[in-house]
Amino acid sequence: MNPERERWERKWAHKDHFSPIPLPYVRDHAHLLTGGTVLDIACGYGRNALYLAELGYRVTAIDFSETALRVLRKRADEQGLCLEILNHDVEEPGRIEALGRFDNVLVVRYKPSVALFRSLARQLAAGGILLLFSFRNRRSTYGDEIVQDWKLLGNEEYLRVCDDLEVVEHETVTFDGDDCDGYVFRKRPEVKGEE
Ligand SMILES: C[S@@+](CC[C@H](N)C(=O)[O-])C[C@H]1O[C@@H](n2cnc3c(N)ncnc32)[C@H](O)[C@@H]1O
Repeated sequence: MNPERERWERKWAHKDHFSPIPLPYVRDHAHLLTGGTVLDIACGYGRNALYLAELGYRVTAIDFSETALRVLRKRADEQGLCLEILNHDVEEPGRIEALGRFDNVLVVRYKPSVALFRSLARQLAAGGILLLFSFRNRRSTYGDEIVQDWKLLGNEEYLRVCDDLEVVEHETVTFDGDDCDGYVFRKRPEVKGEE
């Protein structure tokens, strides 16, 4: 098994409380979402995915931790919510393209590679919203663990990665004592007839 996947399985297996509450950033920006579908990347045990399903969105939630997804499936059943729940490595080439188009994409407390970020932008419908929210500096900790550099967002790192996306909002906020960056992107309309 990939060591990062193994690490997450261990982490989730030792967790004894799974909060039912969505992240404030997601709750506060949910009104910006559009259309009917949401792809939740690295959804974990799915508190954000469940919240959006409750709001009426058709949610596809994807993560590579079976332990976390088991919690999500159980909660979805208990709440009578129907989500598509997929166990995959989101960084695997071609994986996102195979899922088709989405009106909205959520990437929360996960730093996507630039390749994944560009795939997500391609799969977003015109006018669709991509919310990206994650840690940004070395003070950040997760549990008792220092978050490694490669998982931290650099200064304004995603502002100019993809020409298809316009930045609706970009802010640095404090979450649980950590500095985090939140970005709201909107997919630009496709320009017809351009060579
Ligand atoms: C900090 S948790 C965030 C969970 C959720 N987005 C939230 O904010 O509550 C990070 C999640 O990313 C998942 N993850 C990390 N790398 C992944 C990958 N390459 N493919 C799929 N999931 C991944 C882990 O299993 C873990 O559930």
